[in-house]
Formats: sequence, C-alpha cells, structure tokens
Amino acid sequence: MSKVIAVAGGTGSVGRTIVDELEKSSLYNTIVLARNASYGNFKASNAVTEIRKSGLEWTRVSNGYFMDYYGYPHVKTYLKPLSFVIDVKNKAAGIPGSGDDVVAFTYTADVAKFVVASLGLPKWEEITYCYGEKSSYNKILALAEQARGTKFNVTYDPVEKLNKGEVTELPSHPAIYAMAPKQVLQGIFALFGKWIINGDFDVPEDLSLNAKFPDIKTTKLSEIVGAWKGH
Ligand SMILES: NC(=O)c1ccc[n+]([C@@H]2O[C@H](COP(=O)([O-])OP(=O)(O)OC[C@H]3O[C@@H](n4cnc5c(N)ncnc54)[C@H](OP(=O)(O)O)[C@@H]3O)[C@@H](O)[C@H]2O)c1
Repeated sequence: MSKVIAVAGGTGSVGRTIVDELEKSSLYNTIVLARNASYGNFKASNAVTEIRKSGLEWTRVSNGYFMDYYGYPHVKTYLKPLSFVIDVKNKAAGIPGSGDDVVAFTYTADVAKFVVASLGLPKWEEITYCYGEKSSYNKILALAEQARGTKFNVTYDPVEKLNKGEVTELPSHPAIYAMAPKQVLQGIFALFGKWIINGDFDVPEDLSLNAKFPDIKTTKLSEIVGAWKGH
C-alpha cells in the first residue's frame, strides 16, 4: 500500500520541486496543502495547524542556500530569479565579510531527492539537514568569472555595513524594489550576510541526510554556475 505524503507549500517553487520527485515514486500518494486551492482531497486554511491536527509526522528541511540562483536561467528551476551576493547575469558581486565562510549550497532538485529518500526513514527529527556542496562565495565567484570569461565588479561588505542593514546594490536589485522596497531587500540581504559570517548557512554533516544516503549524488556548483558557459 502506498503512503500518503502531505506537502505544505506544495504549490510554491520549492514545494513543486518536491512534488515532482514524489510523483516519480510509486511508493507514495501526494497531497498538496494550499491555502487557496484544493489539490487531491485535502484543503487547508493553515498548513501547519492542519498538519498538527492530522497526526501526520512532519519535519522542516535545512539545506543552506539554493544554488539554482547562480545558474538561472540556464538550469531547470521553479525558483524565481534573485541575485543575492552574486549577480552572474550582470557580472557583479557584493560579498559579505571575507567571502571565505563555509556555506552549504543545494540544488532544489537534490533537496527533493533527499526529502523523498527520507520518507523511508523510521523517524524524522524536527529539522532535516541536507546539502549539495559546501563551498564559499569566493569560490563561486571564481566559477562565475570563469563561466562568463571575465572578471566581475566585486565589492566586499564588512560586518559594520551589514549591521546597518545595508549591502552593495547589485545591478539586478532595482527591478525587485516594486515587490520588496530597497530598504526591505537590503535589510534581508544584510541579515543573510551576517548568517553567512556566523556559519548559519552551513549544515552539520554528521546529522545530514548525505551521511545517511551516500548513494545520492548531488549536483555541484561547477555544473550549475558552469551552465552560464557560452551565454
Ligand atoms: N535556502 C534558500 O536558499 C531558500 C530560497 C528560497 C526559498 N527558501 C525557503 O523555501 C520555502 C519555500 O519557498 P518558495 O520559494 O517555494 O516560496 P513560494 O513559491 O512563495 O511558495 C510558498 C508556499 O508556501 C505556502 N504558504 C505560505 N504561507 C503559508 C501559510 N501561512 N500557511 C500555509 N501555507 C503557506 C504557499 O501556499 P499558497 O499556495 O496557499 O500561497 C506556497 O505554496 C520558504 O520557507 C523559503 O523561505 C529558501
């Protein structure tokens, strides 16, 4: 008998990626939890409230930062474009701190693979860790410059600047201000920058699904950023 898996936010960019992977498996029937639409036979006004009431087992996935953004639009992804730290299209970067801090980067399709694999585990922790590749922004910058065949316009943002809620404005940022005003976007990116410097975008390897499922081969940054070659 197949198990029923409810995906909170299953209509969103990340959720759709997970639903796509679930649908490849005959082991599972998928229910998409959404506030405004009904998919399958379940309609929820609030996914977390409903999931608690339902008695379903649940977890939250911690995967560092999605690498899709650095290959967009040349890799398959449901994420909407967003240039945080490196704007590959416009050959620019505003790097928090030294650029050498370790960050876990993961391709959304690999998160989906880990999530589907984790469904077979006997028990879930409240946080599920996974990652594609541990790297740093200086290393991605080098990959991006190699792929685009030119040096980027690079600025390093010290923590004092981040503490003021400010980051270097990248060429693609003004187009986002209609949805997220400049001060809001800068504030979010400054916070993310501080998390990077604090190591909060890294994930513990020993607790990760990578350690539990060594057969899952993850997509590497050289493939994602390298998708820019020739463009
Ligand atoms: N680590 C990273 O690099 C990274 C990057 C991007 C996103 N994320 C995280 O990934 C998650 C999904 O992001 P996304 O880009 O897929 O977002 P998205 O496309 O906006 O989708 C969000 C989904 O969550 C649902 N949702 C939002 N608020 C809800 C609520 N109060 N109750 C129930 N459902 C709710 C939405 O449901 P409706 O269909 O009902 O609107 C939608 O399906 C977020 O937690 C985001 O912070 C992480």
